[in-house]
Formats: sequence, structure tokens, C-alpha cells
Amino acid sequence: MPAQRLDKYIANTCSLSRKEVKILVRDGRVALNGETVRDAGMQIDAEKDVLCIDGKAYNAEEHAYIMLNKPLGVVSASRDRTQKTVLDLVPDALFRKGLFPAGRLDKDTSGFVLLTDDGDFAHRILSPKNHVQKTYVATLKTPLTKEAHQMLSAGVTLRDGTALLPADVRCLADDRRTVQIKICEGKYHQIRRMLAAAGCPVQTLMRTHMGALALDPALRPGECRLLTKAEKEKITQKTD
Ligand code: URA
Repeated sequence: MPAQRLDKYIANTCSLSRKEVKILVRDGRVALNGETVRDAGMQIDAEKDVLCIDGKAYNAEEHAYIMLNKPLGVVSASRDRTQKTVLDLVPDALFRKGLFPAGRLDKDTSGFVLLTDDGDFAHRILSPKNHVQKTYVATLKTPLTKEAHQMLSAGVTLRDGTALLPADVRCLADDRRTVQIKICEGKYHQIRRMLAAAGCPVQTLMRTHMGALALDPALRPGECRLLTKAEKEKITQKTD
């Protein structure tokens, strides 16, 4: 890619107008190779120069893959008239056109949400055919009984008659009220509905992993960051 105007480059690779880019520069929020940019019209060689916005490396790869630690109370939609969405949590420096959540978490579920503008990748990780496991930790209102454990491991049938694939279920505490569940499907409210069908309703629910990639414990609820290439690949790798 040849050198080009910095304001044009940023405007073309994220959803900001040239005017908005000029304001970022005016406010001293853009740095090139460690120096604060004063002239929005200066040249950038995107292959060699290191561009930072608000102190964070700016990513102009073809697609973005962002790990978000979704807090409770936020909806996994791209837009909502009244409620805060997962996209509202993405800072300007990471925002780009076409971002969407690849797989939804309920408003009352917290944890790992992948935001991307790569529809093919999203399809790949969400299709049950590809067996990408999503791992959840649930606390239950009542202990997981042996029968419930067996039902879930064999593939429980929901109250509406939907038959689910077998789930990988482990108790994480002696009181059998904290459980880890791995599933490859992504049906509406699946974990809550499968545990309710097995007679053990959910109290709290968090997604901790997508494939072999764990939610970064350094991300506080509401925070997000770009994935590295190696991390993105871990999403399609098998878990233990
Ligand atoms: N299963 C649920 O019940 N809720 C989620 O948010 C994700 C999986």
C-alpha cells in the first residue's frame, strides 16, 4: 500500500468522517511512530508506520476481531432504540463499520462476546456443524443432580420438544451449584433452557471461552480489546 494522507486513511478504515479525524488530531489523540500528529494531511505508510489513537495501536487489517467482556444489562445487538448495546462499549479507536456481535449473550448473561466485521468467520464459529465449543459457567438455584447431569450429557430435550446435542458438563464446586458447560449449538437462551429442562434453574451465567480462547481476565466488565492473530485462531481450536 503506498503512502497516503493520514486523515483519508483513518476515515477509510473506520467509520469516521474526515472532519471527525481532524478533530481527533486537533485534540492530540493521534500519534504516528510515537510522535503526536499535528497535521491531519501528513503522509502515512500503513505497512511501516505505527499509528496510535488514544494511546492504543490502531488496527487497519481487513477485518477486526474484538474480545468484549460483556457486563450484565447490556444487549447483544448492533443497535437498540432504548438500551445500551455491546457496540456502544467499543471505543472510537477500535470502532469500524460493519461490526456486529458474532453470537449473542442474553441481557442477563455476562462474559465473552466476539465483535467482528467478518461475516464468514462469524458463520464458521457459530455453525454447529463446525463444533466450535462455547464454554459457560453457571451458578444454579439448586444443586445439579446426578440425573440432570446425565440428561445434559446425553442431550436433553427442551420443554418445546427441541432435542439438543450432548453437552460437556462438569461440576466446579463440591456443592454442585457451580457448573461448567460446553456446547456447540447456540439456540435461544440455550443454557438457561437446558438447565431448566433438567430441573436445575440458572441463577447466574457467564461465557468464559469461545473455542480454546479464554476471556482475558484483565478485561473488566465493559472493556474490550483487539485479538491477536494467534488468539483469533484459538477460537477455532478444540478445548480440553
Ligand atoms: N445460553 C443462555 O441461556 N444465555 C446466553 O446468553 C447464552 C447461552
